[in-house]
Amino acid sequence: MVNFLIFGPPGSGKGTQSVRLAEKFNLKHLSTGDMLRAEIAAGTELGKKMSSIMSKGELVPDEVVIELIAKKIDSTKGSAGFLFDGFPRTVAQTVELEKMLNKRKMKIDSMLVLEVDHDELVKRLVLRADQSGRPDDKDPKVIENRIEVYKEKTEPIITYCRERGIYQPVNGMGSIDDIFKRLSKHMKELI
Ligand code: AP5
Repeated sequence: MVNFLIFGPPGSGKGTQSVRLAEKFNLKHLSTGDMLRAEIAAGTELGKKMSSIMSKGELVPDEVVIELIAKKIDSTKGSAGFLFDGFPRTVAQTVELEKMLNKRKMKIDSMLVLEVDHDELVKRLVLRADQSGRPDDKDPKVIENRIEVYKEKTEPIITYCRERGIYQPVNGMGSIDDIFKRLSKHMKELI
């Protein structure tokens, strides 16, 4: 199994690229954002508790997403590896993910970091707001907060992964097809 993190700030294209990459390389795409939104849509107790945190653009507690991911890792069969999208988001989540994978004789093989200018991130999310129905896209202040939270709580994972030799920056500006080619090139080297 080969396991990738697709990483980057809100609006950097993680979800868009993950769907295509997972199909191309037979990877199991695990997005904690999608999982949490599914809980909200299903009206579960967990969803109800998490929705106000998410609509402010803050992070939900580490233990919530760790449990969601652990369940999926154990129930996944037949894929060439995992593509983690939007997880981990804190160094604590990264340490837990490593433990979960190591226990199952796996590791994080590469962290692909999409690099996108701040103004382009905001532009993409504002454009999406009408169609996505996501409360965290609707308010420009919440978009800015999500970017700030990324810088403060999530970016430190880059240093952690760089020290482990798995950090791979990728230019996330340009067309979706061009970015897909760049990401595919890096993934092919490992699969
Ligand atoms: P999550 O769902 O992970 O959202 P996010 O990180 O804010 O990312 P987005 O989905 O907004 O952006 P993306 O990078 O996936 O870009 P996308 O491809 O969609 O998290 C939501 C919330 O859930 C968090 O704020 C937090 O509350 C909670 N949460 C989730 N995981 C958590 C965790 N592990 N720990 C704690 N809390 C957690 O693209 C964006 C838009 O741009 C789309 O409209 C797309 O069509 C467009 N686009 C993409 N690429 C291009 C391009 N090249 N050119 C033009 N447009 C493009």
